[in-house]
Amino acid sequence: MKNALGSVDTVLLLGGRSEIGLAIAGRLAREGARKIILASRPGPSPAPAFGGAEVHHLDFDAADPAGHGAVFDAAVKLAGDLDVVIAAFGVLGDQAAYEEDPQAAAESVGVNLAGHVSAGLHAARLLREQGHGTLVVLSSVAGVRVRRANFVYGAAKAGLDGFAQGLGDALHGSGARVMIVRPGFVRGRMTAGLPAAPMATTPDAVARAVAAGLRADAGVVWVPSKLRPVFAVMRLLPRAIWRRLPR
Ligand SMILES: NC(=O)c1ccc[n+]([C@@H]2O[C@H](COP(=O)([O-])OP(=O)(O)OC[C@H]3O[C@@H](n4cnc5c(N)ncnc54)[C@H](OP(=O)(O)O)[C@@H]3O)[C@@H](O)[C@H]2O)c1
Repeated sequence: MKNALGSVDTVLLLGGRSEIGLAIAGRLAREGARKIILASRPGPSPAPAFGGAEVHHLDFDAADPAGHGAVFDAAVKLAGDLDVVIAAFGVLGDQAAYEEDPQAAAESVGVNLAGHVSAGLHAARLLREQGHGTLVVLSSVAGVRVRRANFVYGAAKAGLDGFAQGLGDALHGSGARVMIVRPGFVRGRMTAGLPAAPMATTPDAVARAVAAGLRADAGVVWVPSKLRPVFAVMRLLPRAIWRRLPR
């Protein structure tokens, strides 16, 4: 439940080693969250500084939807009501490699879209039953208009963004909400070795924007915020130009 000041008390991070997800969870802990649950594939657990917050770990594989219900059950046992569920798992991969390996491409979409559909529906059912709580979905500008240079990842993000909008509409009036986050290029592990795109940002900047969005009950958060007007124009570019754009 939210604490007496109305701020976030309990957080479930799906993709418990995500740099962006950990930055968001860390920020919410500094702002008063007392229980943080990191759900990730088995492996070395991160040991981030969450101040005085209790930190728990759960196994979670986005590619195994049959196991997702049990993850939410376990999270509720650990924390009670969940104020914020952050869906931050995802794989970027390499477009040229995907074009050579359709199975790998399909598997990445399984994580980036199907995994979010399953986890998102479980989250929505739980938050609806609680009558409060926010599902934070890490979408991307890559899905706002899909580019030739990364269309496998971009197509999954476009599907995810649409799913998250519909899920938010389905939850309207229930007390539970969906907040869609559309970052541009974020410097970090996922983008290591890639040339930074214009207006590149950082996991901490995404975390600040998400925390502000949660306070404001925002439906969509662009990071940086100027990407919103930029993409309003980019959406209108003729396809002959769009297809030549780099990732
Ligand atoms: N970085 C960017 O430029 C950027 C921009 C826009 C949107 N985003 C989105 O923001 C989210 C977080 O990205 P990030 O920058 O924090 O990347 P990251 O540090 O690479 O985190 C992605 C996380 O997803 C997890 N993951 C991948 N497959 C999984 C699976 N099958 N089951 C469970 N977890 C799985 C990874 O787990 P392991 O630790 O086990 O590998 C990893 O911890 C992603 O959805 C990404 O698409 C990122």
